[in-house]
Amino acid sequence: MAQAVVHPNIALVKYWGKRDQDLNLPSTGSVSMTVSTFETRTRVMFGVPDDLAVLNGRTARPDEAVRIFEHLDRVVPGRRPAQVVSDNNFPSAAGLASSSSAFAALTVAAADAAGLEFTPRALSALARQGSGSASRSIWGGFVEWQRGSLIDGSDSHGVQIAPASHWDLRLVVAVVDSGRKPIGSRAGMNRTMATSPMYAAWVASYMADVKQARQGILDRDLEAVGDAMERSTLKMFSTMLTSVPPVRYWKPASLALQDAVYRLRDQGVPVWWTMDAGPNVKALTTPEHADTVRAAFEGGCEAVHVLGVGGPPRLEP
Ligand code: PMV
Repeated sequence: MAQAVVHPNIALVKYWGKRDQDLNLPSTGSVSMTVSTFETRTRVMFGVPDDLAVLNGRTARPDEAVRIFEHLDRVVPGRRPAQVVSDNNFPSAAGLASSSSAFAALTVAAADAAGLEFTPRALSALARQGSGSASRSIWGGFVEWQRGSLIDGSDSHGVQIAPASHWDLRLVVAVVDSGRKPIGSRAGMNRTMATSPMYAAWVASYMADVKQARQGILDRDLEAVGDAMERSTLKMFSTMLTSVPPVRYWKPASLALQDAVYRLRDQGVPVWWTMDAGPNVKALTTPEHADTVRAAFEGGCEAVHVLGVGGPPRLEP
């Protein structure tokens, strides 16, 4: 038995679309920040009579159970039946990156419970196959998920750009809607790849954003990182909006929160926004300005969380 605690990560440069469906290989590289405070705690126990998964206190739906146990088969080939108990301390499936921490935690706990030793890169490549963004939650701090070019995907994994101690930042998360999103990221990506005329431009242009974000992180240059993040975000959503039918996650409140960020920036506050596969808005800023951003968001959404930069996965006794 083993129990892992893993933080989700939020993409600063986005991943949207795959070059290989089965192996979850991305069409683009991406960059993320692992966040503090939010976490997934997952326990894996082998040697039970049957596979059973309990997520946030309820039995997993059949589609969820298939994804979980197929992933266990990948991490521990020839495994025995297992019980998986996983809890998030934040809303699941609302674009708050719960799949990133969920599949990273499942990978780390399963490997430890089976007594298998992997390098972090190998763990990341395994986590990637459960959910792409999970490849980045194997590290704390700032992480790049390299696109890779090998057909078996062994070079498509996260690498740490800098640990959490490198740069103290805040991500102010405005929860617009904590319910389940209308379309999951996997189906949304597939539709985008198959139908958006913007998709080719997205793939052709991501590298400049990755380079700018990577260098901006190393230089602790928030404007460079924020600028790359907003540009990458807008390009990603332009591919979604031009899919047929469109993949739409934004709500009126999401736009109002984006406006709030632009207004603050006009007033000299260093703050940049991003969104993921859901209506929530996340703003990247400095510790000194986090309260100003929080105050600007309050009233315009269900809840506001101020997160710092999170550390790596840990195993609990
Ligand atoms: O790997 P998934 O299924 O969690 O997809 C992540 C997609 C985005 O959150 C929209 C972007 C990203 O890079 O995390």
